[in-house]
Amino acid sequence: MDERMRQVQQAVEREMVCSAHSMAHVWRVYRLCLQLAAEETKVDVEVLELASLLHDIARVREDTDDTGMTDHAVLGAAMAEPILRDAGYPEATIHHVCSCITTHRLRGDAIPATIEAKLLFDADKVDSLGAVGIARAYMLAAGYGEEMYSDENVADYVARNHVGGTATGRIRVLGEHTPNLEFEIAFKSIPDRLFTRQARAIAIDRLAVMQAYFDRLRAELDGRA
Ligand SMILES: [Fe+2]
Ligand SMILES: [Fe+2]
Repeated sequence: MDERMRQVQQAVEREMVCSAHSMAHVWRVYRLCLQLAAEETKVDVEVLELASLLHDIARVREDTDDTGMTDHAVLGAAMAEPILRDAGYPEATIHHVCSCITTHRLRGDAIPATIEAKLLFDADKVDSLGAVGIARAYMLAAGYGEEMYSDENVADYVARNHVGGTATGRIRVLGEHTPNLEFEIAFKSIPDRLFTRQARAIAIDRLAVMQAYFDRLRAELDGRA
């Protein structure tokens, strides 16, 4: 990592203070991006590294905005631009990195256009799955005061507490959400929305881990295990 990129990293570190969207998440996504990129040709690795470092820079600001109007992908791109310019990156790099950040979120309708944007999207979604995904879901759940499990019918829940379509909408009252509902509503749809073959394979494997976990949790809560 060169001096310019280290300057970008330090700017990100100043903003990342949430347990589920910490620098640890940023570095997992960074590594996953490079792992996925190894299977692709013609990837601009510098753009990919910068986009993965910066992608959630506005996440804490979205989470702490009570109006619910902040989109961390859009704000993140706006925050990234001056950081990249200060670090001395060329305009073409800045523009490309910002477009990757704008299109990285699952809930949202901006579509990743370049291979770098697709790899960032895929890596970020893969990091919400598997054993890591379970841990992250409960870290977030603790912050929002969620229960451990809900046995509410998923369709009833969506009708009651979800604004917009399941792929692009958002949760109305966060404290009424639970990790298993997030699994049913959002995580299970992830493989169909990924762009690369390798990410899809990892996602399917990680979903099986989550399914086994929530099945076991349900069994323990029901007194069957
Ligand atoms: Fe994000
Ligand atoms: Fe992320």
